[in-house]
Amino acid sequence: MEDTFLGTTTADGIRLHRPEDFDGMRKAGALAARILDDMVEHVYPGQRTGEIDRLIEERVKAAGATSATIGYRGYKHASCISVNHVVCHGIPGAGVPMGKDETISRDLDKRRPDDVLRDGDILNIDVTVIVDGWFGDTSRMYVAGTLKPRAEKLIQVTYDALMLGIEAVRPGNTFGDIGNAIQAYVESQRMSVVRDFCGHGLGQVFHAPPNVLHYGRAGRGPVLEPGMFFTIEPMVNLGKPDTRVLSDDWTAVTRDKSLSAQFEHSVGVTETGVEIFTSSPAGRFHPTWRAAQR
Ligand code: MF3
Ligand code: CO
Ligand code: CO
Repeated sequence: MEDTFLGTTTADGIRLHRPEDFDGMRKAGALAARILDDMVEHVYPGQRTGEIDRLIEERVKAAGATSATIGYRGYKHASCISVNHVVCHGIPGAGVPMGKDETISRDLDKRRPDDVLRDGDILNIDVTVIVDGWFGDTSRMYVAGTLKPRAEKLIQVTYDALMLGIEAVRPGNTFGDIGNAIQAYVESQRMSVVRDFCGHGLGQVFHAPPNVLHYGRAGRGPVLEPGMFFTIEPMVNLGKPDTRVLSDDWTAVTRDKSLSAQFEHSVGVTETGVEIFTSSPAGRFHPTWRAAQR
């Protein structure tokens, strides 16, 4: 279908962007990534997730950009901060849901009395900004204080899973190839891929077709074509894949309270492969940024 203003769309409703549209995504992606880079020194035991979100909102505004999440379906914050067994959409400033070793209660809604990070907490910070109408969406893992070996393994596997998914992005491959690459690797490491949340098309909108599943069969799903923009954002659990959303209607947790990790990049399909829009300017995307942390 041709449209003078909207460009072209595939039969699956996936927008095919023009070469000049990549520039818009580069700017938005770079800002989101730089803000995540800036958060490295602000994550430590005793820090509040609400304070991290405040710093993020401040940086979005200072850049003359807009937060895509403030006001999105009633969400009020510039970031999602998902601690330990929170899978995604953790609310900054809200009490951190209690983990397995913190309570004998099975009540998943039970919270710490505050939003203060403790030594050994792992957390995902997810930021989406709008720059000149283009959306940049990225998230990565951080650690408060000492990283425990099991958490380190989980973070490494999740990072590698995202990168394997990105390596499957090239014209002629399918969305099923991406999901299959992620699932096969994660399950080979005896961890599980979350099914209840997925990546998404984006561009001049936040969430567009297709749903980018982090599991699936090679060769299935829509064929990748140059100009497609989407996120890949696998969530990986140490335990079972099942999740539940808490009574705040946002916070998604693992049902078995096992630790969960996530990394997210916004990418575009090029003529020959893939461009990552949300690469870290400071090289702090991978957890080895810890070397830069005091
Ligand atoms: N940034 C998230 C994503 O990766 C969406 C967050 S929506 C919010 O798609 F409202 F929870 F912020
Ligand atoms: Co996303
Ligand atoms: Co995101």
